[in-house]
Amino acid sequence: MSTDVLDWGEVPAAWRRRHLLGVEELSAGEITLILDQAERFKSVLIQDKSYENSGRKIPLLAGKTCVNLFFENSTRTKTSFALAARRLGMDVVDFSASTSSLSKGETFIDTVKNLEAMQIDAIVVRHSCPGTAMLLSENIRGHVLNAGDGAHEHPTQALLDILTIRQRFGRIAGLTIALVGDIAHSRTARSNIWGLKALGANVILCGPSTLVAKQWESLGVTVSFSLDQILDRVDVFNLLRIQFERQVIRPFPSTREYSHLYGMDSERLSRTKSDVLIIAPGPINRGLEVTPEVADGQHSAILEQVTNGVAVRMAALWMCMNAK
Ligand code: NCD
Repeated sequence: MSTDVLDWGEVPAAWRRRHLLGVEELSAGEITLILDQAERFKSVLIQDKSYENSGRKIPLLAGKTCVNLFFENSTRTKTSFALAARRLGMDVVDFSASTSSLSKGETFIDTVKNLEAMQIDAIVVRHSCPGTAMLLSENIRGHVLNAGDGAHEHPTQALLDILTIRQRFGRIAGLTIALVGDIAHSRTARSNIWGLKALGANVILCGPSTLVAKQWESLGVTVSFSLDQILDRVDVFNLLRIQFERQVIRPFPSTREYSHLYGMDSERLSRTKSDVLIIAPGPINRGLEVTPEVADGQHSAILEQVTNGVAVRMAALWMCMNAK
């Protein structure tokens, strides 16, 4: 495959979104368009030698500028968005909230309008407040990509999770996928639920009743408070981090009790399906949600998810910035 810009054609006419704010609003067809495009980028990222020799660039967005606006910590998402933008030929600027004039009292929208006055084309935003990406999209001319808004949505994380599952099983429809852990505080959980349901998966939410409530079943999912009871009927376990930083009240007596009841270890793994897939958005707390043997073992696709993240973010940037 050649990395020539002309070979990539146009963004499919069925993709009409200028922003990627959440998965809830995406149809199954739109999700599939992003995943298919991400696979095309990934095959070049991984297989094409000429790509390696061309500075790892597919310069479809050369001349455009992207600002990474992160108000919460990030390792994977921020680096991966920056790499995705650079690999598409964009210039990337990192905005540091703590050293900006926000600390002098400037409003969020004023800050962003000033950034936009410097002729930027896209903003990747992560913020602790749900709705931040939507607010931005209503106030600026550029493209907005949501890199996580509070406990609301984290669309590219869900898309890369779903791509990883689709690559392993060849489909999503009919699979049983369990999201285990801190459902209450997880934007990844919400985005996964919308995406997986749209594509026809059976979704189980599993965790202590302080972190997942029966009412979640109104979303068309099943809630289970016992990991042991669901082990043998799940195809994919997505192990969510316990988000201590978002919790006001401690949701369980001790981390030891949590790992005893909900941690994925080798013994539990031995009671799962033989082709079970273990994924996690990261960061993982080794020994709490998952033991090192399982996280680094043959059923784990945790690092594959990270590889897929760059391809998914390339697809999201290119498609939003070239939507008809
Ligand atoms: C997730 C996030 O920030 O929501 N991580 C990520 O983006 N890779 C999940 C988490 O922080 O646990």
